[in-house]
Amino acid sequence: MMRKILVAGNWKMHGSKSMVRSLLDGLLAGSSAQGKADLAVFPSFPYLSLAESILSGSHIQWGGQTLNPNAQGAHTGETSGNMLVDMGCRYVLVGHSERRAIYGESDEDVATRFNAAQDAGLEPVLCVGETLEEREAGETEAVVERQLDAVINRVGIDAFSRAIIAYEPVWAIGTGLTASPEQAQSVHAFIRDKLLSLNGIIADQLRILYGGSVKGSNAAELFAQGDIDGGLVGGASLTAEDFLAIYNAVA
Ligand code: 13P
Repeated sequence: MMRKILVAGNWKMHGSKSMVRSLLDGLLAGSSAQGKADLAVFPSFPYLSLAESILSGSHIQWGGQTLNPNAQGAHTGETSGNMLVDMGCRYVLVGHSERRAIYGESDEDVATRFNAAQDAGLEPVLCVGETLEEREAGETEAVVERQLDAVINRVGIDAFSRAIIAYEPVWAIGTGLTASPEQAQSVHAFIRDKLLSLNGIIADQLRILYGGSVKGSNAAELFAQGDIDGGLVGGASLTAEDFLAIYNAVA
C-alpha cells in the first residue's frame, strides 16, 4: 500500500512575521498539490493565524508544536487543542524530545496530550527517540517501545489510524549527525513490526517520519527506505530553499 511521503517542518522557537510570509510564499511557489510529497509546517503559536491566512485553501497543512491537554480554563500561557483546530491546524506535535527534556513531559504526559489532541480533532505526530547514552547502552528499542507503549496503553491501537509517528533520535537533532539510512530504517521497521502485531492494516497505513538533521543532501537516501515515510525537519525547514530541496528529493 502507498504511503505518500510527508515532509514536515518544525520551526521550533524561530521566526518573525516577515520570515513566515517569505518562507510560506516560497513554499507555495515551489510545491504543488500534485507533488510527490505532502507538506506541513509547525510555526510557533503567534504565527498560526498568519500561516492560516496564507495557507488556507492551499495544499500545505499546518499544526501546533504542542498543546495543553485541557479543553480550556485557568492555564495562563497555554494553548488547547480546540484553539489549534480553531486556527485551522490539522496536526500537533506531541512528545518532541525538547518538550520531554526541557519541560519535563513524561511518557504519561505525552499519552495525555495525544489523547487530548485526538479528542479535539487533531492528528497527533507522536515523537519518539533515544538519547546517545541510551543508544550506546543498547537500549534504543526498549526506549522507543516504552514511549510507544505509554500511548498505546492509553488510547489503544485503533487511535493510530489518525496519527503519525516521528522517530527522532535525540543525538541527531540539531547536531548535524544524521542517523544512517540503515540505522533509521532499523528503528522504523521495529516500530512498524510492533504495531503490526497489534493491527496489520493500521501498521501498514501509518506514516513513520524520520527526524534529526534531515537536509537536501541526505533526504533521498532516507526516503528510499521501506519504512521511512517522510521527514520531520528542524533547521533545514527555516528557509524555502533548504526545505524545498528536501521536498524535491522525494523520488
Ligand atoms: P533538526 O532537523 O534541526 O535536527 O531538528 C529535528 C527536529 O527536532 C524536528 O522536530
